Amino acid sequence: MVRNPDDLTQAVLAVMQRTPDVRLREIMVSLVGHLHSFVRDTRLTEDEFRAATALIAEMGQRTNASHNEVVLMAGSLGVSSLVCLQNNSLPNALNMEKTGISPEDSVFETTQNLLGPFWRLNSPHTENGGSLLRSPTSGDPMQVCAQVVDTQGNPVAGAEVDVWHCAADGLYENQPEARAKGQANMNLRGKFSTDAEGRFSFWSIKPAGYPIPTEGVVGRMLTAQARHAMRPAHLHALVYKTGFKTLISQVYAHDDPNLATDVQFGVTQTLTGQFVRHDVPPAASPATKPDVATPWYRLDFVFKMLPGEAKLPKAPIQ
Ligand code: BEZ
Ligand code: FE
Repeated sequence: MVRNPDDLTQAVLAVMQRTPDVRLREIMVSLVGHLHSFVRDTRLTEDEFRAATALIAEMGQRTNASHNEVVLMAGSLGVSSLVCLQNNSLPNALNMEKTGISPEDSVFETTQNLLGPFWRLNSPHTENGGSLLRSPTSGDPMQVCAQVVDTQGNPVAGAEVDVWHCAADGLYENQPEARAKGQANMNLRGKFSTDAEGRFSFWSIKPAGYPIPTEGVVGRMLTAQARHAMRPAHLHALVYKTGFKTLISQVYAHDDPNLATDVQFGVTQTLTGQFVRHDVPPAASPATKPDVATPWYRLDFVFKMLPGEAKLPKAPIQ
């Protein structure tokens, strides 16, 4: 019989311990242990508990086919990035077991990162060196020269690379406001194939930082914590090749004022790219756009893939 709080925790843990599935049992025992410790540590009051359950319900109610308040909250608490780093960084016993990678490869620094809500299937195939602009788009020109390598640094040829980013006003083309302001379908998106050296390149405009939506629970939390809602400027990439774990990545602009205070805690040292400013036009060559305005920017970056399963995520916005 339960006589006090400790008796209650023990009774609940005993029930969790009887979960038949081994992994589910491990998760439920740990979850209940941490939840009960949280209630004890914070001396949670009845009013606070009722407020918390209402907030969780509201996050669900605010989630629909084009917005996920739960994922936004997970990111705003650093949980999304923790799950990403824990499952993709080496040394990590779990990864090594799964992938057969040896401890000597422990220098591998992951370029895996958050998917975000704006990835779309079927972005237009684009020639290496081509442009992501599908409609007139203002902004500083940006050239991206990238390579895809494996854990040994060997080129990954024939990988499919989706890239996408927002315009200089911070909007992605699949946001209704962006369409209203004239961005064409699939603007600032493209799908490339890496060449024999694992390389791909394209021209676009330099992306801007942008705020996450603040109309819901996450916005109220940010206000209560005196936090801004900004993500630093970034380029998204999704790299797909059979035999490799699909690489979902973002490269963050080193010169963004919010680099150290990303509201989604996505920025890592490895994913901070040098978007190098140039004040004279690039030297003319067959591979260079003839009409590049100044200033223009160039980003060189290496994406690193782990062995694993090639599978595509579900597009977050349906
Ligand atoms: C993004 O990078 O697109 C993103 C990631 C997390 C939350 C909101 C946006
Ligand atoms: Fe983004």
